Amino acid sequence: MNSPANTPRQVKGPARAAIGNLERAAASSPAQTDSPAQENAAPLLSLEHIRKSFDDVCVLQDISVQVSKGEVLAVIGPSGSGKSTLLRCATLLESFESGRLSYGDLVIAEDNAQGQAVYASKHVQKQARARFGLVFQNFNLFPHFTVMRNIASAPMRVQRRPKEEVHEQARALLAKMGLSGKEDMMPCELSGGQQQRVAIARALALNPEVLFFDEPTSALDPELTWEVLTVIRNLAAEHMTMVIVTHEMFFARDVADRIIFMEDGAIVEEGRASDLINDPRHQRTKAFLSTYAAKR
Ligand SMILES: Nc1ncnc2c1ncn2[C@@H]1O[C@H](COP(=O)(O)OP(=O)(O)OP(=O)(O)O)[C@@H](O)[C@H]1O
Ligand SMILES: [Mg+2]
Repeated sequence: MNSPANTPRQVKGPARAAIGNLERAAASSPAQTDSPAQENAAPLLSLEHIRKSFDDVCVLQDISVQVSKGEVLAVIGPSGSGKSTLLRCATLLESFESGRLSYGDLVIAEDNAQGQAVYASKHVQKQARARFGLVFQNFNLFPHFTVMRNIASAPMRVQRRPKEEVHEQARALLAKMGLSGKEDMMPCELSGGQQQRVAIARALALNPEVLFFDEPTSALDPELTWEVLTVIRNLAAEHMTMVIVTHEMFFARDVADRIIFMEDGAIVEEGRASDLINDPRHQRTKAFLSTYAAKR
């Protein structure tokens, strides 16, 4: 899924004190509950003042985003604007130079006195990874595993849950995805839309608090796109917390609560989904949406 070279590195030396603070914050954090009182507490995901460069080229400049429990956030913008990089920073597939990242009470990275992001220990990062799921453009199923094994292997291996329980959940998820009876098929025997729905089931089998999608339908033709968007729409109706990078503007308008429009590594405009798509305030958002409409 990820090359080790890209994973966030732990900072050594003078940053130790900051790491200690992060670990103490994680260790002393209260157990999570689903009580309504907590729903309005810390956001499920918080990115503050994130800055990220590749080879001295700044691709994320001072990005701040928060996502609350049950909220659906769509991220739109032109190619190269930094949408995937933002997602990859949020999901620890890339490290960032400065800023703060937290999942609820769990602080993953924050700036030290020199303004450089310091990551928490591997243990804390692992705890954070258990809180989110990821669905990529190209499904990324294991080609040599059956559908069931693709879904069940991580819950059994990583979460050490019993096979019977995991298989029962996997069958329920497959039913929800409209894929009952496909348990023993291989990915190559499925359509792209079916593979993507297996990938969504696989992510959900780990019971994540937040699900990230990076252009989940861009490799699919329109009919298969519709199947996958319907599944995501149903998850939104169940109040699954989601962050979705998408080029499907009308889908974003109808399913997301909030949309951010990015350009050149910055958030140009952020607002209620219907407002941003139907009545964008910023000239650059208007230009992007009109280009998009022209292409359809
Ligand atoms: N691993 C990398 N090394 C160097 N530059 C990178 C790397 N990944 C992304 N970039 C650059 O960072 C910028 C943002 O890329 P990113 O993939 O986040 O854009 P995007 O908004 O997701 O685009 P798209 O809509 O085409 O997927 C681009 O200029 C890209 O070339
Ligand atoms: Mg991208």
